[in-house]
Amino acid sequence: MNTKLPFSTLHFTMNLFKTLAITGLVLYLAYIIFFTESNCPSSDFFSPLQHIFTQNSQTILPPPPTSNTTNVSHLIFGLVGSLNAWWHRKAYIESWWRPNVTRGYLFLDTAPTAELLPWSAASPPLRVSDDISGIVRESKHVAPVMVRMVHAILEVFREGDQGVRWIVMGDDDSIFFVDNWVDVLAKYDHTKYVYIGGHSETILSNFYYSFDQGFGGAGFALSYPLAAAMVKDLEGCLKRYPYLNSADLITQYCVDELGVSLSDERGIHQIDLKGDISGFLSSHPQSPLLSLHHFDVVDPIFPAMDRFQSVNHLMKAAKADQSRLLQQTICYHRPTNWSLSVSWGYSAHIYEKVLPRSFLKRPLETFRTWIKKPHPPHYMFNTRWPPFSDPCDAPHVFFFQSVENETDHIVSTYVRSSPRGLPACSASGNHSADFISRVQVVSPTTKLVEAGRSECCDIVHAGDNNVTEIKYRACKDDEIIA
Ligand SMILES: *[C@@H]1O[C@H](CO)[C@@H](O)[C@H](O)[C@H]1NC(C)=O
Ligand SMILES: *[C@@H]1O[C@H](CO)[C@@H](O)[C@H](O)[C@H]1NC(C)=O
Ligand SMILES: *[C@@H]1O[C@H](CO)[C@@H](O)[C@H](O)[C@H]1NC(C)=O
Ligand SMILES: *[C@@H]1O[C@H](CO)[C@@H](O)[C@H](O)[C@H]1NC(C)=O
Ligand SMILES: *[C@@H]1O[C@H](CO)[C@@H](O)[C@H](O)[C@H]1NC(C)=O
Ligand SMILES: *[C@@H]1O[C@H](CO)[C@@H](O)[C@H](O)[C@H]1NC(C)=O
Ligand SMILES: *[C@@H]1O[C@H](CO)[C@@H](O)[C@H](O)[C@H]1NC(C)=O
Repeated sequence: MNTKLPFSTLHFTMNLFKTLAITGLVLYLAYIIFFTESNCPSSDFFSPLQHIFTQNSQTILPPPPTSNTTNVSHLIFGLVGSLNAWWHRKAYIESWWRPNVTRGYLFLDTAPTAELLPWSAASPPLRVSDDISGIVRESKHVAPVMVRMVHAILEVFREGDQGVRWIVMGDDDSIFFVDNWVDVLAKYDHTKYVYIGGHSETILSNFYYSFDQGFGGAGFALSYPLAAAMVKDLEGCLKRYPYLNSADLITQYCVDELGVSLSDERGIHQIDLKGDISGFLSSHPQSPLLSLHHFDVVDPIFPAMDRFQSVNHLMKAAKADQSRLLQQTICYHRPTNWSLSVSWGYSAHIYEKVLPRSFLKRPLETFRTWIKKPHPPHYMFNTRWPPFSDPCDAPHVFFFQSVENETDHIVSTYVRSSPRGLPACSASGNHSADFISRVQVVSPTTKLVEAGRSECCDIVHAGDNNVTEIKYRACKDDEIIA
């Protein structure tokens, strides 16, 4: 069994790939039924899914008393990995783990070999997973690896760390943005039973597993009281569902037994996508970035860098201002009819035409589906399609280069990755942006706190010295950005 792909991934690859024909057929039938029964256009077909996708943004509980606000010491991470994959996944975890600041453990399937010892001080403290073969034998469980992963919740809890408000579980091939987890979890009431996670980007995986589960590779959080209630009979719960072959689904079943439903957070990214995900990362919603999963499966996120360099590069921006990381800000420059879209700390796009915000918020479909040739629709969001050969729709693409912290503002710089190779957009006046080689973004040093509304920006220079300079500011009441 391939233990390199923990949590949902393993199950996903084993089953989705192998039963592609069946699931494809099921989806196709569901599609036909939905369409014939409702006899309505595709936007209505999506509405139940959209409801699920967004329902919890309204259910965020009022913040707990500010005198006692959640900080990093209240979080305990339970990271589940395997020895085989650790040699290269170590770099992912060490990119975000802060020794003696972040608390938690890494659970490996077997004891580390000599070359991994002494255990790196930059890695989370090591634990070896419990032997769960008794539970598997007794219940005839179909998925021992999945039992091990769910059982890790109990093993983290059993460590008995003091002052814990949240247990955050995740995979060894995920990048976590810890400051943002702290800010997001602080909005929830940790004294209640709370289960926080994210959906897959792929409709088919949500459909095939569950629209109500947190995709665990990307990380999910359990409030301490919920975890305490779960571990009282976690082994019993594991034995009650021996036929479930996904750790995330088993977790959901065990949470559901306590009457608790998923609260979804849009910054948790399972990344059930393949290839170049730059289009996806360049249209991030107004939610703090919490995690990026499946780093081994997608292309490196920056051009001319490998995966580890890419992660460390993104972390430079994360260190300067995690609150804004990836969040999309759009502004327009009337004298040239340009639209600018910035994914803070990651990319900047210049379009030679004034394009509606609603359109620019759709990710450019630079990525591919996880499985080959599924029936559409594929994603839980709308996309813009390639090929990007129309000079009025194709962006000039710039990627994050550097960040500087000044006294009262932060300057992040984005450089052109390659020439666009297209003529100017004629319909909007032939204002070519070919000569722009850099985009500079000036943003406040203060943390971005307002959720749900983007910041506004002004273009303060549109081309002197081949640099476009953009300044972020709070939007005014009633300001229309178009
Ligand atoms: C802070 O929160 C903890 C855990 O919820 C609680 O036990 C403690 O009484 C709180 N302290 C204050 C000063 O509110
Ligand atoms: C976190 O908050 C607790 C109070 O709940 C406090 O004792 C502790 O010093 C704080 N830790 C950090 C790292 O701010
Ligand atoms: C973490 O704390 C331990 C014990 O307090 C100390 O020996 C170690 O040097 C610290 N590690 C780092 C990276 O600060
Ligand atoms: C940036 O500089 C300001 C002022 O010097 C400081 O308050 C802030 O903490 C710094 N931020 C980072 C991320 O270094
Ligand atoms: C901007 O584009 C519109 C057409 O969409 C055109 O009428 C207008 O002249 C252009 N403005 C400039 C400054 O080129
Ligand atoms: C833009 O340039 C093209 C080709 O040079 C020309 O045909 C077209 O009329 C120009 N459009 C405007 C609005 O100037
Ligand atoms: C701006 O770019 C053009 C073309 O790429 C180049 O010829 C010119 O020297 C650049 N100007 C500056 C000030 O960098």
